[in-house]
This record gives sequence, structure tokens and C-alpha cells, in this order.
Amino acid sequence: MSEKDEKDSPRNGVSRRDFLKIGGIVAAVPLVSTTVVEAAGEPVEVHGPYKAKVTLNLNGKARTAELDTRVTLLDAMRDHFDLTGAKRVCDRGACGACTVLMDDKTVYACSILAIDAQGRKITTIEGLYPTETLDTLQHAFVENDAQQCGFCTPGFIVAAKSYLDHHPQAGAADFKTGLSGNLCRCGTYKGMQLVADLLTKGKGA
Ligand code: FES
Ligand code: FES
Repeated sequence: MSEKDEKDSPRNGVSRRDFLKIGGIVAAVPLVSTTVVEAAGEPVEVHGPYKAKVTLNLNGKARTAELDTRVTLLDAMRDHFDLTGAKRVCDRGACGACTVLMDDKTVYACSILAIDAQGRKITTIEGLYPTETLDTLQHAFVENDAQQCGFCTPGFIVAAKSYLDHHPQAGAADFKTGLSGNLCRCGTYKGMQLVADLLTKGKGA
């Protein structure tokens, strides 16, 4: 079968071409909850997009807003709840700049829908460090030049704090592995190596 034939052949009754047609129709549907449209000669029920009342537990406080149900936790925090510590860099779960804690585990806020984060305890960098005083970890980043533009830094700090809280006896190699979900485009890894050495001195294998 040629590449073109394969692209257009039906799978589960819907060919790639039909799928693109349906996608085009869905994109053109106005902001209503449910609509029936015709696609590939068949009626198709389209749900949303629509807004919903979303309540999030952010840094120990219940915060509510009317949000499009497609809004991510990251965009909800930044655009509706004035929590801009977590950064949007890749917006696709690859860089870790948006790292926050959800029920005490690190997650990428860009990869979770706000509606799905309801009922979970979300802690951002603002919640972890509510005062202006720097703690040992933050000091280590500053003193060892482990940041330049700073876009990745909140995500690194949240991930590093979480890792060290859960692995207080980790060695430098383990600490580095613990931060493997975060990337720095400025390449401050030499400074981060110094941070790892400093914070894990005398620990690990
Ligand atoms: S912005 Fe979320 S992982 Fe990059
Ligand atoms: S300091 Fe710029 S991306 Fe890390």
C-alpha cells in the first residue's frame, strides 16, 4: 500500500482524512457544551470546549476561577492565580521549568489539566519559600553560579528540595540523577555540580 493510500485508509471506521475533517470541524465549533456535527457522513457529538468552575488547593489556600476546561495547571496558576514562579518554557513536559509539588510529588504543571488537579495539594515555589530569606539550597545556587537567566531555577529548586527532603542521605551522583527531569538552557551544570557536591558532602556511597 502506498504512503498516500495508507494515510487515507479507514482504521476503526475513520480514515486519516476523516479524522482531519472532524478535527477541523471541532476547531470551528463555538464555545458551547455539546454540539452534534456531521463528519464523514456521520453525526458526531462534540463536547466542549466550555468553562467550568475550578477550585484548586494552592499553597494551602482554596482558589477558585471559571476556567476553560482545557487550561493547564501551569496556565491557571500563572494567568489566574498570580503564581508566576513556575515557568512556561517548553510547555510539553520536557524541561521541568514548571515543576511543582502535587501531593508532595514533583510534577510538570504544563502537562496536567487544572480540572484534574482539583482535590490535590499543590505547592509551588512561592509556597515552599514564603519569605525573602534564602535557605541553604537557594544560597548554594546563588553562591555557586548555578543560575543565569533564572528561567529554569524555580523548577530546579522545587525538584532539588523535594529530592533532598525525600533522600536526606543521597550522594552527589544520586542528587544529580534526582534532577534529571530538569534542563537548563544556559548550561549552568558546572555550578549545579558544585551545589550537588556541597549539599551532599560526606553522604552517599
Ligand atoms: S514548561 Fe513544563 S516541562 Fe517545560
Ligand atoms: S539559568 Fe537560564 S535556563 Fe537555566
